[in-house]
Amino acid sequence: QANERESLYLVSEFAKEYFHKTLLETEEGKAIGKSYFKERGFSDATIKKFSLGYSPEGWTAFTDEALKNGYQLSYLEKTGLTIVKGEKKFDRFKGRVMFPILSMSGRTLGFGGRILKTDKKAAKYLNSPESEIYHKSKVLYGIYHAKQSIAKEDNCYLVEGYTDVIQFHQRGIENVVSSSGTALTPEQIRLVNRLTKNITVLFDGDAAGLRASLRGVDLILEQGMNVKICTFPEGEDPDSFAREHSLEDLTRYLEEQAQDFIAFKASLLANEAKNDPVKKADTIRDMVVSISKIPDVIKQEVYIKECSRIMDISEEVLFNTLAQLLQKER
Ligand code: CTP
Ligand code: MN
Ligand code: MN
Ligand code: MN
Ligand code: MN
Repeated sequence: QANERESLYLVSEFAKEYFHKTLLETEEGKAIGKSYFKERGFSDATIKKFSLGYSPEGWTAFTDEALKNGYQLSYLEKTGLTIVKGEKKFDRFKGRVMFPILSMSGRTLGFGGRILKTDKKAAKYLNSPESEIYHKSKVLYGIYHAKQSIAKEDNCYLVEGYTDVIQFHQRGIENVVSSSGTALTPEQIRLVNRLTKNITVLFDGDAAGLRASLRGVDLILEQGMNVKICTFPEGEDPDSFAREHSLEDLTRYLEEQAQDFIAFKASLLANEAKNDPVKKADTIRDMVVSISKIPDVIKQEVYIKECSRIMDISEEVLFNTLAQLLQKER
């Protein structure tokens, strides 16, 4: 229903402005929210550019204000901003700093909210639930602020988190978006594919998620895009690295470290399976699966040859494995 969607957009826009004003203008917002962002090195201009906000500790501070301004409870509930349980209602994001999530055209779709102190009790980030206007599989955090730069640079950096996007902007790199901790989807990749054929995926230096995330990269290959991978030193992510380095150093790091995806994956897997023949066989199949996703057969051939070299296995075996795979898919 077009009308209902419009109402959800309006409520979300109101919330974005309320959280932002609360951060900048209230005692609690300034003391807790703004000082948190300042400690992370975000400037006033950055806070404004991304409409960063703060949701007060009071159980219903936001909900009360929204109702007072004439927004209906049913819409507050449908966007997930207010949680309604029988007679009781409370603010979903109470006591969190807020990251509004915008569409390609700049409409507010939903929010990520971070707790200030990470303890074991609560999730570090809380996100808006799915709604008629927010589908997490179809949005990329930062796309509104990145789209011009992605087209101009003809490349897009894909990072893991909200703060990675923001810190890159502040350093002067604007062609950057985040999948916000969810597994990459074809819809998200299509958003970028309209602007450039080149993606550089930047992984946090925490290894844990790396192997699992590699499968998601196959989805980028499937769309005929060129993929590079860049990792960060242990314990660092794009946010912390950008904060500690000048634009010049950051740019040089990205240029020097970014490696073609297929070569990156082949080296990683070959290294892991070094002295284990059974594991090595699995690894080779895994590599060929990735190569089979590439629509361009000439590129496939180039990569087979490269893989053969890196993994020390004959081209013939790789070509045969590829042929078998493609046969099965038909
Ligand atoms: N994320 C989430 N829920 C969590 C943890 C993470 O939704 N409990 C998402 C967030 O979008 C986050 C991203 O996954 O930005 C990457 O996670 P992580 O690297 O752990 O967080 P950072 O972005 O580095 O956040 P921070 O620097 O604030 O710790
Ligand atoms: Mn991470
Ligand atoms: Mn992490
Ligand atoms: Mn991170
Ligand atoms: Mn981080």
